[in-house]
Parts: sequence; C-alpha cells; structure tokens
Amino acid sequence: MVAHRVSEIEISGIRRMFEAAPPGAVNLGLGEPDFEPPSVVVEALVQAVHDKMNHYGPSAGLTALREKVADRYRDIDPDVTRENVIITSGGSEGLMACALTLYDPGDEVLIPDPGFVLYAPQARLVGATPVPYSLVEEHRFLPDLDELERRVTPRTRALVVNSPANPTGSVFPHSTVERLIAFADRHNLTLVSDEVYDEMVYEGHHISFAGKGDRSIVVNSFSKMFAMTGWRLGFIVAPRSLAVEINKAHYHMVACPSTPVQAAVLAGLGAAHEARSAMRAEFRARRELVVREINTMPGLRCVPPAGAFYAFPKFSWPATAYSVAGELLKRGLITTPGDAFGRLGGRHLRLSFAASRPNLKRGLAILRQYSMDMRGRRKRS
Ligand SMILES: Cc1ncc(COP(=O)(O)O)c(C=O)c1O
Repeated sequence: MVAHRVSEIEISGIRRMFEAAPPGAVNLGLGEPDFEPPSVVVEALVQAVHDKMNHYGPSAGLTALREKVADRYRDIDPDVTRENVIITSGGSEGLMACALTLYDPGDEVLIPDPGFVLYAPQARLVGATPVPYSLVEEHRFLPDLDELERRVTPRTRALVVNSPANPTGSVFPHSTVERLIAFADRHNLTLVSDEVYDEMVYEGHHISFAGKGDRSIVVNSFSKMFAMTGWRLGFIVAPRSLAVEINKAHYHMVACPSTPVQAAVLAGLGAAHEARSAMRAEFRARRELVVREINTMPGLRCVPPAGAFYAFPKFSWPATAYSVAGELLKRGLITTPGDAFGRLGGRHLRLSFAASRPNLKRGLAILRQYSMDMRGRRKRS
C-alpha cells in the first residue's frame, strides 16, 4: 500500500506532456538549456573522478564550495559566511529540505499561482496546506500585497516567492522585494525565495533576498547557471540557526551532495564567465524572436518576460490550456499547459526558449499553424 501523502500527489503537468509526446516532437516543454556545461566545468569533473574524489563528503557540502558560494553573496550581505550555505542536490532538493524543516502538519504556506510545480506538492507531502496567491498579467505578474494580507491566517508559516519567475518571467523590482520582506516580518513568516534563474535577467536586475530580514532563505541551483540540469547540484543560503536545522533534513534525504560535481562547479564558479554570458546573450536573442513571433499569431498575446527563459502567452480561444497543449502535442509540439502551474495559468501556455534555434523555429511554425486553424474554425462557426 502507498501512503496517502504520495498517492494523492499527481505527476507534474510538465512531465505528463513530455511522457505523452510522439517520437520526434519538438520539445519546448522542459526548462533546460540546450547548451552543454562550460568546458572548464566538464574537465574539472573528469579530473575530480581521476583524482579519486568519488566518496562521501560533508553533508553541507565541500568547505571550499560553501565559501565560494558565500563570496557570491558578500556584496549584498557582508556577514554571509560558509556557515550560511548548504550545498544541495539541486534546487528541487533544496526546496524539499526547506519544506521538511519549516512546515508542520496543518501549517499554511503561501505559494504563487501560477508558480513552479514543486511548491504545492512539497507542502502537501509534509502535511501542510498550500495557499495560492495570484500573479496576474494586469499586475505584471507581481504579488499583490493586499491580497497577501487577506490570505494570511494565524496558521500561515511561510511565504514562497520566485523571481525571476517560472512560468511568468516576471522579475521583482526593489519596491516589491522591500514590501514582501516587511509583510513576512509583520506576520512572522519565513520567506523562501527561489532564485534559480538569478543569472537570466533581460530587463531590470535581480534583487536577492539573501540576508534580508531575519528569516529569509534563498534556494538556488547550478542547473541553469552551468547548463548542467542532469548533474543535480544547488545550494541554500540561510540564517545560520536555520541552516543548521535545514542541514539535518538535507542529510537524511541525500547524506551529502555529489563530491565530484562539487569539485567541477568549484572550478566553474571562478572561471566560466564567458560561457555563462554567451548563454545569456543567446537567450536574450531567442526571447526577442519568440515574443515577436507569438505576438503576430492570431489569438495569442505574449508579455515579454523580464527574466528566466519562458514565454507565457495568453490565448483567447474557447478552450482549456490542457486541450490546447494536447492538440499541439498531436501536431508534434510539446508545450506546458499553464494550469500545470496553478488555476490562474488556465488561459496560458508555457514555451521554453532555452531550446535550440532550429527547434524554436519548428515549434513556432506548429503554433502559428494551430493559431491560424483556430481562427479559421471561429470564422466558420
Ligand atoms: C523555479 C524553479 N525552481 C527550482 C527548480 C529546480 O531546479 P533543479 O532541481 O534542477 O536545481 C526549477 C527547475 O526547473 C525551477 O524552474
């Protein structure tokens, strides 16, 4: 028999589309760069394996890597040290370690709608109740503080935020960050800030929650930064007392993060600036292309994403996002239906522009044909 907490969890809408796809389908559904990790990182991994770094390491991560991560935040928080840092097996595990550490059964957790697919199931897995707050196009997909005030109850334990955001692409301006910190403070909430896209910003700039307020935890990842989604490495930056507690949950899930992968990332953090900025420049160019194309398709409107690497167009067809995505799938294009990210995503599709240019062109051609067929169908009816 399977425990209720797992049998009641559904497989994510992203995975469902991926697994139902016909062979050869263009995949704009998964959020992963089509780049390979920078060569310095690949070489350092091979070297680490040859150097026999193939064994367990400290559960919070290699000291040198924790220090390097602390350095990354030193200019925004001069007090940050390796004691604030835990190296995780990706952002996903970092988020789960936070859920296990912070939420008791019966607690409520404020999560974005639409928001990344792990926040709600992870809260449920530990017996907490996810309480969605709205991100709508009319408010540039930014949290509405008045609504947050209405959603908070004596049982609310934490606020989860995500900027640059998946799937909406919004990037919080300074004023939003300040107001969210004040809100969390006022209600004694721990603030969990998912910043895995912090290097992918095209308008404005990223403002980290690291060191802001007494209870802000940053979850980050090397997955997108180094195009190494399959290597599974990320990190948490938290106030020291919380880091000690999170490390217990982390230890009981993974024992320690991968030792050779940590050695590889350590080499990359100091060195791979060119590869990282080339990847960013390419994403920026693809973003222009994708948004421009989509905005000339009948029935679709796309706000240019300020960050991350997703277009999140709204459609005006009388259909659900699942049926539109299902129809596109039959035509050979994998997208993610917006309602996979929450109820308010119901009239949106998410398309990743981290895919290669030829794939983007093929995918956009399928989407254009579909939008024209939908217009034809409406005219006839
Ligand atoms: C917003 C967000 N957070 C966290 C993750 C988890 O990334 P990973 O586990 O690969 O570090 C993802 C992956 O797509 C994401 O989009």
